[in-house]
Amino acid sequence: MNQIATMSSKQIMKIINSAIKFKNGKKVHLNKSIANIFLEPSTRTLISYQKAQNNLQMETYNVNISNSSLKKGETLEDTLFNLEAIGINYFVIRSSQEEYWKSFAKKHSIINAGDGRKNHPSQALLDAMTIYEHFGTLENLKILVVGDIKHSRVFHSNKELLKKFNSTVDYIGPKGISDKQLELSSIISEYDVVMFLRIQHERHESKKNFELYNNQYGLNDDTVKKMKEGSIFMHPGPVNRDVEITSNLLYDHPKNKILVQAKNGVFVRMAILEEICKNI
Ligand code: CP
Repeated sequence: MNQIATMSSKQIMKIINSAIKFKNGKKVHLNKSIANIFLEPSTRTLISYQKAQNNLQMETYNVNISNSSLKKGETLEDTLFNLEAIGINYFVIRSSQEEYWKSFAKKHSIINAGDGRKNHPSQALLDAMTIYEHFGTLENLKILVVGDIKHSRVFHSNKELLKKFNSTVDYIGPKGISDKQLELSSIISEYDVVMFLRIQHERHESKKNFELYNNQYGLNDDTVKKMKEGSIFMHPGPVNRDVEITSNLLYDHPKNKILVQAKNGVFVRMAILEEICKNI
């Protein structure tokens, strides 16, 4: 499970429906061992993979990167060969290197937890589950993605997924991090789903000034009022408070799906793990 591009809409719906069954209490015991190797920071993805593994009664190991032999120069692939010899069956890996999995996915059982600016498949699947639960479909919806388009693997994976269901994905963001600029307030009323993205300062080549960001591209008391009836807003997290979304709207608005996304992450990752362990 390394990218959305190679998944069919049928495979995507299979994961979502399985995740919904897990949310409704389905129990599965996977008698396999798995290691989480996170070479980039994470809260949601790491902990929800760990929770999913515990729920499935998997044998789980977390590689502490700062104390691992990766720090002594061992390559990631040599680490995988040695962990397999020790008895690990599967690996959940996050790396800043785009498509790191391409050269060794055939030799090792890898689940991609995010690669650079390119792919974040489990995030797109949990976002799709959240949209599907709300609208009862992923077909023919209008989705607007707002923010740091240039550096976002979440945008890339969501776009890949939603186009398979004939939904429209438009985007806007400031110059330098998006090639389309429009005032959010002038178009927000057209969309069923508005996805806000984090400004990824750590990936920017030069320091940019985002003082006026919330006025033009952020969700605030004025822009939220313009949203279409029945529409929702989302954010993969972590949020830059009062930049992408003002603090008062972060957890307390009926259109807000941010914590539903976080919750669904556990069930989608249980569905992914079950699917992979059944097939490999
Ligand atoms: N959405 C997401 O990937 O969050 P983390 O970086 O905290 O895992």
